[in-house]
Amino acid sequence: MKLVRSVKQMAALTAGYQQQRRRVGVVPTMGALHEGHLSLIRVAREQNDIVIVTIFVNPLQFGPQEDFKRYPRSLTKDRRLAAATGADLVFAPSITEIYPAGFQTGIDVGELVARWEGASRLGHFRGVATVVAILFQLTQPTNAYVGQKDYQQSVVIRRMAADLRFRCRIHVLPTVREADGLAMSSRNASLRPAERRQATVLVQALELARTRIQAGAGDAGPLIDEMRQLISAATSARIDYVAIVHARTLEPQWRLHGALAILVAVWIGRTRLIDNILVDVP
Ligand code: PAF
Repeated sequence: MKLVRSVKQMAALTAGYQQQRRRVGVVPTMGALHEGHLSLIRVAREQNDIVIVTIFVNPLQFGPQEDFKRYPRSLTKDRRLAAATGADLVFAPSITEIYPAGFQTGIDVGELVARWEGASRLGHFRGVATVVAILFQLTQPTNAYVGQKDYQQSVVIRRMAADLRFRCRIHVLPTVREADGLAMSSRNASLRPAERRQATVLVQALELARTRIQAGAGDAGPLIDEMRQLISAATSARIDYVAIVHARTLEPQWRLHGALAILVAVWIGRTRLIDNILVDVP
């Protein structure tokens, strides 16, 4: 498996793949690979001739008070995991390769970023959309693979790729969970043992919502209250938001019907976790 660190080398390889008409699958990541990432790499392996995993902890998508410095970095282990899972190439550029002196441009994805993660993490999606556009430009994917765990991010990336006419199909694959239901995330490693036990309140609240909706609940308000109560019972939990939204527009929905996404963002101690489920109510 190749390790590529320079933009110039990546662009040269991409030109070669294009000339040979290879189908290129790209899995954009910030490293600290876990089973969630590996599930994306496996699907990419099945559907493409060349599989590229990008590893770049993107400073532009972290706020000044956020965990950029604390974010886990493990390139040696990540390379081993990516290779064992079938990747052909890891593209792991430095910050100055991606953002050389004088870099100015940012991509804003309009109303989709006004709420939820976008409201709690100002500038976050500008950073995500900008780096993903650069990575797509450098790798020219036929297919790109992202996880449903970052649901709003997946909607934003789809919009950006469509608006900027990237000829790339975006695949959003299901969240991979630990045995007790906690969504896999690189940030789970920062949880202390007692916090790790309490972190399951996110998935428990989502499962409660699914059960209530399947039993015919019609109004979002009381359901959100009940979810908030369940989460707040965990002593280390502090809710950022609990929302029931339209799965495509991400606007809040007060009547429970149609394609819905149920989103939760909760601080567990010093670690901010997000999770979601999709529910279709005919
Ligand atoms: O989900 C992530 O790991 C990042 O937000 C992404 C898509 C790789 C952009 O930096």
